[in-house]
Amino acid sequence: MYKLVIQGGNALHGTIKTSGSKNSSLPILFASILADEPITLTNTPHLSDISTTLRLLMDMGGEFILESDNSLFIDSSKLTNLVADYELVKTMRASILVLGPMLAKYGEAKVSLPGGCAIGTRPVNLHLKALEELGATIEVKNGYIYAKAKKLIGTEICFNQVTVTATENIIMAATLAQGTTTINNAAQEPEISDLCNCLNKMGAKISGIGTSTVTIEGVKNLNGITYSVCPDRIEAGTYLIAAAITGGSITVTNIHPQSMRSIIGKLIETGADIKTEKDTITLDMKGKRPKAVNIKTGTYPNFPTDMQAQFTALNSIADGHSTITETIFENRFMHIPELSRMGADLTLEGNTVVCKGVKSITGAHLMATDLRASASLVLAGLAAKNTTTIERVYHLDRGYETIEEKLKSLGAQIKRVQD
Ligand code: EPZ
Repeated sequence: MYKLVIQGGNALHGTIKTSGSKNSSLPILFASILADEPITLTNTPHLSDISTTLRLLMDMGGEFILESDNSLFIDSSKLTNLVADYELVKTMRASILVLGPMLAKYGEAKVSLPGGCAIGTRPVNLHLKALEELGATIEVKNGYIYAKAKKLIGTEICFNQVTVTATENIIMAATLAQGTTTINNAAQEPEISDLCNCLNKMGAKISGIGTSTVTIEGVKNLNGITYSVCPDRIEAGTYLIAAAITGGSITVTNIHPQSMRSIIGKLIETGADIKTEKDTITLDMKGKRPKAVNIKTGTYPNFPTDMQAQFTALNSIADGHSTITETIFENRFMHIPELSRMGADLTLEGNTVVCKGVKSITGAHLMATDLRASASLVLAGLAAKNTTTIERVYHLDRGYETIEEKLKSLGAQIKRVQD
């Protein structure tokens, strides 16, 4: 295993290119199951979750080639094994996204229940209920979901809770269903719009993209295409906070600023000077200490839960008191005890962290627990006095492409060492 060793205190300066979105690449990779021909993706990030997904698709009979130009050629058009095995699913909850496409294309699926993770129990009941409404018969036993559907029939679906991957599962299932499906209270994350745009390019008929009411008119089949995955707004937001927490100034390129309005708004509240252009965002902290800012996470377009841990690190050294309220997951606070060991003044009250900004924090030996909590610890290490060591960085590698290279290019003193 590897750990990161960070010598804090450098203000970050420079320019970095945002990688393709993890949370857009994953559903689109599973959407390849729906096509009758191979698809080619460009701008997919090199992340362990992507590798896990490709392994799962291969396990089911899919094939892929990573081309020399970094494009990904995937042929999942003729799966021979309709089982998503526990050994792979247990490492990545998003594997549940195999269910909708398999039911739509093959009429059956056996998918391991993903189980919970560090940030919560993360049930899949809303996925299963909606698939049953589309006509699937579903049985859960021995830790597996057994699903069958002679033909999925379009219908009105209404989610009583906004859910990103359940919305994606139903959109994908409905593309090959008989008749029309309308999803009410659909999640509106930009990654869902990216999936819909890719599916429409494959021949699907989806409207209401990016709204809470999405309509999918079933078609007979979907074709192979080439598609470029949208940029990762959470990666970009994480690097903007890296500049803010160290008093530096960076430009993030290859990004869609309009997908980051809530994040940009909060960063401006901290006193950061932000300029946006068509596909770049420049943040300049001008050496100032950030002002404390209250945060409350919510579904898109509200402040994203995937940026909560990172902003908690920023508030930890900000000027003033703040509250950070997490409304999406029940346990997305694993970074709090670790930040406190660095001298942050954080008190958890229910689903709200009360933060009293301190002038400085000191490096410590820390343990990463989940993807965004790990990012929060890296950000704190960049701002801390002396050295921070972060164990179990495999959590980070799930969602951040070559994070230490990108940070080093901005002037951070960071290296990856073997345990
Ligand atoms: C997606 O997870 C993202 N993952 C998460 O990103 C993100 O934090 C989350 O959406 C919220 O934006 C991917 O896109 C691969 P949900 P998802 O279903 O779809 C409850 C990251 O760091 N719920 O929107 O699993 C659930 O427990 C990851 O990149 C049910 O109760 O999240 C949660 O409280 C972490 N039953 C709430 O809904 C269900 O069947 C929202 O979860 C499904 C969800």
